[in-house]
Amino acid sequence: MNLTVRPAPPLRGVVSVPGDKSITHRALLLGALGEGPTRVRGYLDGGDCRATMGCLAALGVEVAPTATRTDEGGEGNALLVRGRGLRGWRAPTGPLDCVRSGTTMRLLAGLLAGQRFDCVLDGADQLRRRPMDRVIVPLRAMGARIDGADGGRRPPLAIAGAALHGAEQVLPVASAQVKSCLLLAGLYAAGETVVIEPGPSRDHTERMLAARGVAITTEGLRHALRGPAGSLAALDTTVPGDFSSAAYWLVAALLVPGSELLLRAVNVNPTRTGLLDVLVAMGARIARLDPRDEGGEPVADLLVRAGPLRAVDVGGEVVPRMIDEFPVLALAAACAEGVTRVRDAAELRVKETDRVATITAVLRALGARVEPRPDGFDVEGPVALVGAPVDSHGDHRLAMTAAIAGLVAARETVVLGAECIPDSYPGFGDTLARLAPEALS
Ligand code: S3P
Repeated sequence: MNLTVRPAPPLRGVVSVPGDKSITHRALLLGALGEGPTRVRGYLDGGDCRATMGCLAALGVEVAPTATRTDEGGEGNALLVRGRGLRGWRAPTGPLDCVRSGTTMRLLAGLLAGQRFDCVLDGADQLRRRPMDRVIVPLRAMGARIDGADGGRRPPLAIAGAALHGAEQVLPVASAQVKSCLLLAGLYAAGETVVIEPGPSRDHTERMLAARGVAITTEGLRHALRGPAGSLAALDTTVPGDFSSAAYWLVAALLVPGSELLLRAVNVNPTRTGLLDVLVAMGARIARLDPRDEGGEPVADLLVRAGPLRAVDVGGEVVPRMIDEFPVLALAAACAEGVTRVRDAAELRVKETDRVATITAVLRALGARVEPRPDGFDVEGPVALVGAPVDSHGDHRLAMTAAIAGLVAARETVVLGAECIPDSYPGFGDTLARLAPEALS
């Protein structure tokens, strides 16, 4: 499927982005382990989260849509997850299909390592290329019996249920997926599980475990819990809007002259909002309105107005706090004055695609000046972008970045392979059509 985008007049209005992908995965998984039913309101009905739902169904957990009351008193959509307790999952009859979702595979690996049954975790070709030794090696240190293809490096993962023990592990990279995998395995492990990260990655797992009654402690970058856990409380959850989805509209509104957008109920957990800090350092005008708490997460409305941007250096602790936002940052940098340098971001090379390579390819196709680096890239701006056919490489975040670029690129931008967008953002095209009908006509 292709998506054709032309330059747009100012974007104005209100946008509600879909539910957060990371929080939806965790609400589903922890709900499935809870003592009884859990409602998950405002969940993300995207491809990656559907992969988690499919795996849970194969593990004997019922997950079904249900109507619920919204805060405004109306009807909203929710999922009802019928939790079966920490030991209530059933052995699956075939491989669990994680499709293209790394979060599904890595978090489930942690939860399945300590079960009393065996299973296999597999996925689509894109996922089969991603590194899994980062969970296999530390899970083995906890007593797990787990192996992968390609010498234990990649999916599929074969897991034989085992008795786990706690261990203290220092992660070589800041990865919330790896941290979460180990903490979730720690629920089944005898003794203390300690995970020390090199930088601050998203902390939704820690927040959600604590809210469900697990005594988890965090001191700086050190997280610890003592297992085996007796039970997890069933706790209804409201999923806030996904900052990573809001990021496209933030950049769109900054770049299309005369724009002003209000993004409603966006999760502004500081472990997720690195891009906000970087855009403000680039000169962006973004206001946080009505800050509040929703389901244990900080939420705010974001008001963004178009304005000029200048280049920045990006590296260090901000990188894991914006790890999914580098494609759209690169677009902003192409329109900013000066050379933006991104470093310490080698993790980009093992995402849905090698994002150093795909960011370079997509933006160069549109006329941007981008130089790849081993652990990041340089972008020299500003350039007048020119529309062209651009390949998404099957990566939802590249596809959406190219679509937003099309709003400011001369003539016509054709996003080839746009069918991956709903992996994280179903409804992206509808919102684009509402905000900028001229862009799609
Ligand atoms: C995620 C963590 C990040 C992110 C991914 C979702 C999560 O991956 O890129 O989209 O939900 O924990 P890493 O933790 O591997 O960096």
